[in-house]
Amino acid sequence: MSTKQRFAHVTGWGSYAPSLVLTNHDLEAIVDTSDEWITSRTGIRERRIAAENETTASLGAVAGRRAVAVAGLDPSDIDLIVVATLTPDYWMPSTAALVKEAIGASRAAAMDVAAACSGFVFAYSVAHAHIVAGLARHVLVIGSEVLSRFLDYTDRNTCVLFGDGAGAVVLSLAETHGGARGIDLTTEPSGAYKIWLPAGGAAAPASEDTISGRRHFLRMDGRETYRFATRTIASTALAAIDKAGWAPEFIDLLVPHQANLRIIESVSKGIGFPMERIFINLDRYGNTSAASVPLALAEAVRTGRVHVGDRIVMVAFGAGFTSGAIAMEWTADPAASARADAIGPEDVPVRIPDDWDSVGPLPPVLARAFAARGVDTSGPGVAVSLRLRRIDDAVAPDPPVAAPEPGAASDPAVAVPPPASPGAPAPSAAPAPIPDPDPGPGRPARTDKGIAHAGSSESLDAGRSADAADPGVAGRSADAPDPGATAAPDAAAHPARTEVTA
Ligand code: ACO
Repeated sequence: MSTKQRFAHVTGWGSYAPSLVLTNHDLEAIVDTSDEWITSRTGIRERRIAAENETTASLGAVAGRRAVAVAGLDPSDIDLIVVATLTPDYWMPSTAALVKEAIGASRAAAMDVAAACSGFVFAYSVAHAHIVAGLARHVLVIGSEVLSRFLDYTDRNTCVLFGDGAGAVVLSLAETHGGARGIDLTTEPSGAYKIWLPAGGAAAPASEDTISGRRHFLRMDGRETYRFATRTIASTALAAIDKAGWAPEFIDLLVPHQANLRIIESVSKGIGFPMERIFINLDRYGNTSAASVPLALAEAVRTGRVHVGDRIVMVAFGAGFTSGAIAMEWTADPAASARADAIGPEDVPVRIPDDWDSVGPLPPVLARAFAARGVDTSGPGVAVSLRLRRIDDAVAPDPPVAAPEPGAASDPAVAVPPPASPGAPAPSAAPAPIPDPDPGPGRPARTDKGIAHAGSSESLDAGRSADAADPGVAGRSADAPDPGATAAPDAAAHPARTEVTA
């Protein structure tokens, strides 16, 4: 059993947004709306739309592969893939399984998480828990959505709000402080039918009635959802900050769910958190549900808004109603963002069955809107993504499994440097050791380079539970049972299992 504390640092991040842009002016030709109404009520100016060949898995695979590259890892280093989505490619298999194959993550287990727009935050908490429990060393967390195919383009209350996209992070095991320090998740089923997709599930299977009733599209009570959002973003973010033992004035960047600028401004006023320290990109992407927070986070890092030592809060709300927040300390070098540049959709084609040729058609009304502008909706990479990958090309065979080093399987808390792999970027993004932060009563001074850490980890833990009573907080008791003892995430524990047949 390991006696070391385990932390789950963000070591990789990435995003992918389809290249088709649907503007508010385009929507004026589709429903009774106006650019002025949408901009003034929501802050959204345009959103991305998945091209004909693109799906939730294909978007997520690009973002995920980019995050793995930024982490300096090989896809085969990933132990677990968690995809958050409310628009999966299929009811089954999971979208995560398709992503696993597309990126060549030969060893990873893969699963989806359904918590609507809070999905990424919920999935992140699953990944964090796996790592601090000793069940995994590297977890890929993806939020990916193709909402454009679940919107009713006759309903102006909803169709103007949403867009498509994907974002991802890699969480990696580390021994030094960093990563999530406070996590807060809530679910309020009283709002279950305030935003929902009525048909297609066991309660209302697809039928002529459900189709003619347009019940396969998202429905929403905007005002109720707005009320819930303004209340819950503040309370959930504050709860996570409090669990971390921090205070709002020492948060460097808030990365909220990008649903509506007015919601964000109202939260900013409500808790006195300045807009300058809130990252916003909803004007260009709209609400991309579970993809929204990781898409914003990756963009914030890439554009210089995040520094080593920064305290970041990610917060989301969504259908369920759900809400979730993560207060985390950033430890990775933002310059590693550049490693994602070489990866595009053509590098991670998602395999489709050979009797299936209709993946991802655009809603006809959007196809007509783009055609009116002379835009090619096949998008870049259509030939690649629609090309049937032969099954024997789909996943590279696993390398021979080497005998584990003595002790390796029994001590998953040992920080493992990313292995060098042929063609992979230089593996220099492993969590950089940072001094223990001191968020105690004597607050740390900000410096140009981040936070000047002055205290010890003891002062950090004062006033909050750092043991099993607070499972959402990194830094669990070293005496807690070590589930990794029976499920060590090393190569020997995950023999090659992917069936590859011609
Ligand atoms: N264009 C023009 N007029 C519109 C549009 C539109 N696109 N949509 C609604 N209107 C009209 C309404 O019909 C209404 O007209 P009426 O007074 O004649 O009935 C009027 O505008 C005002 O409607 P409100 O609902 O009061 O508008 P509001 O200011 O509340 O803004 C909005 C609506 C933007 C939807 C807001 O309520 C909101 O952002 N709610 C939260 C939505 C959200 O965040 N959803 C994501 C949930 S996350 C997830 O899990 C997917």
